[in-house]
Amino acid sequence: MKFFLDTADVNEIRELVETGLVDGVTTNPSLVAQAGRRFEDVLIEICELVPGPVSAEVTDTTFEGMLAEGRHLAKVASNVVIKVPLTIEGLKACRILSREGIKVNVTLCFSPAQAILAAKVGASFVSPFIGRLDDVGEAGMTLIYEIVEIYRNYPEFTTEILAASIRHPIHVVDSARAGAHVVTMPPKVLRQLYNHPLTDKGLSAFLNDWKKTGQKILAR
Ligand code: G3P
Repeated sequence: MKFFLDTADVNEIRELVETGLVDGVTTNPSLVAQAGRRFEDVLIEICELVPGPVSAEVTDTTFEGMLAEGRHLAKVASNVVIKVPLTIEGLKACRILSREGIKVNVTLCFSPAQAILAAKVGASFVSPFIGRLDDVGEAGMTLIYEIVEIYRNYPEFTTEILAASIRHPIHVVDSARAGAHVVTMPPKVLRQLYNHPLTDKGLSAFLNDWKKTGQKILAR
């Protein structure tokens, strides 16, 4: 299972790459706005920090505009993946860009029907938004299970399921149980994955007992 960071914050990415757990990055226009910097500058820095796929989203909504923006962004670095919305125009652009050898992440997926369309046009990734479905009272994780089930029926579907809109560690665990290929998560959630109070309590007890022995493993 691959872990992507869902952020355009270069400092956060630089810090978390050190964990060895970051396989890629996803950005979107809202995350770029939060970063408050020029998009292409941020994209170049992220692509240098992370050798894996880095999603960069187009902002034009027309087929021709998405093609032009996608082709332009794909030239920024060899690991750029173009993110297009799950619209008719977006899927038309996905089909052409994919045929040109440019990887595409189809975003804003909220139904299994939409995920079938993304696979049929050759998307490299489809991004079902779990948290936003939960927010409107739908079971977001059910969508991941449904897409995994459908894609398994068709070996010709090579699209990877990228669980997005992740809000907490249980979303990560449940995405893994469902069989998502990738989970993209905010930096905060990646840090939360390490935590368990019994780990802290246990470590503290071990260190207290060790202190009582008066020993050191390395003589200094
Ligand atoms: O990057 C797409 C997705 O992960 C956004 O998540 O938290 O804004 O619903 P969120």
